[in-house]
Amino acid sequence: MTCFQFFVKLKRSQQQQDLQLNKSVGNVKLFSFKELRAATGDFCPVNKVGEGGFGSVYKGTLRNGTNVAVKVLSTESKQGVKEFLTEITSIYNTVHENLVELYGCCTEGQRRILVYNYLENNSLAQTLLGANRSNIQFSWKTRYKISVGVARGLAFLHEEVEPHIVHRDIKASNILLDRDLTPKISDFGLAKLWPPNATHISTRVAGTIGYLAPEYAIRGQVTQKSDIYSFGILLLEIVSGRCNTNKRLPQDEQFLLERAWALYDQGELERIIDASLTEDLDIKQACKFLKVSLLCTQDSAKLRPSMSTVVKMLTGVRDVESEKITKPGLVSDFMEMKIHKKKANELFQSMSSSSNSSHCGSLGNTTCPSMTFTAIVDRE
Ligand SMILES: Nc1ncnc2c1ncn2[C@@H]1O[C@H](COP(=O)(O)OP(=O)(O)OP(=O)(O)O)[C@@H](O)[C@H]1O
Ligand SMILES: [Mg+2]
Repeated sequence: MTCFQFFVKLKRSQQQQDLQLNKSVGNVKLFSFKELRAATGDFCPVNKVGEGGFGSVYKGTLRNGTNVAVKVLSTESKQGVKEFLTEITSIYNTVHENLVELYGCCTEGQRRILVYNYLENNSLAQTLLGANRSNIQFSWKTRYKISVGVARGLAFLHEEVEPHIVHRDIKASNILLDRDLTPKISDFGLAKLWPPNATHISTRVAGTIGYLAPEYAIRGQVTQKSDIYSFGILLLEIVSGRCNTNKRLPQDEQFLLERAWALYDQGELERIIDASLTEDLDIKQACKFLKVSLLCTQDSAKLRPSMSTVVKMLTGVRDVESEKITKPGLVSDFMEMKIHKKKANELFQSMSSSSNSSHCGSLGNTTCPSMTFTAIVDRE
């Protein structure tokens, strides 16, 4: 057998294996690497639309003309084809108007590539909160639609999908917008694709410090309630039009949640509403949204409403006025924790300075290594 014949045979057996696995594991569509290479112009840098903790994302066009987002998982994310397909079958079968749709994947050799539908209007992090904001006008009506859409998508993951899915990484860069600004939650169901040694205390990117519920940041407890906390922060960002953390502002305004809580306490919550909202702003509704965000970010996880309740509150089906709002879990409280305060501060400062190049020039939306304070305690 010549070398060439050997490789052809190897390739065929690989393809057959892939096909067989595909049949036995689920109905996930398999793309060939060749197909994805052609779609993305050989993964040309000009087609790269972003890079996150899992790897790089490229815009591509399939032969039938469909635009796709091709997410090439970093080599660290390697795992067996079968485990990988098992994992993504659940994502593949989770379909909702407010979730990014997975078209399929490529598992040739060691490659692990996910193919999603391409969302034209990028992420909220770039368009609403980014330094180079887009020319999209985020009217109140649009913000209402985005907030309710994300809440519905998350309620679906938490309460309707079986088994329920905890997202773990709700933040503005994981909310993508389609042509008519319908929000789509991305990166759900990926937790098990994280590198095997990853926990919340590893250096794997898993959440952004400003979005982390205290119990997640401190003890690594990931539950629906920690997602709900992150949603509360996101909702604050949508209504105020600013990142959850901005080191350029005066000290008492740097953390959005702290600011919102202080203003709520003074009975002046409306002062945090985005000043650029004028024409169609419904102040009463915006204040209601802010109260919902405070309910979601309460320090006590059990007091936070479920996502289906949040949907009811946002859409006016359920009253918010009568709800008692207790103190939120604040970033500065993490800092004041007796546990190794100095080290926590150092870590926070280093995260803050490393984020200067981020799109919003603040700590908030930068994806930081999820080395949380538990990690500090553990290591000492
Ligand atoms: N389906 C998609 N359509 C259009 N753009 C996308 C799509 N998926 C991702 N992107 C772009 O690629 C960028 C990187 O996405 P990715 O999910 O890899 O990283 P991230 O969300 O910034 O961080 P993390 O890895 O923590 O989720 C996104 O911010 C977005 O701009
Ligand atoms: Mg993402």
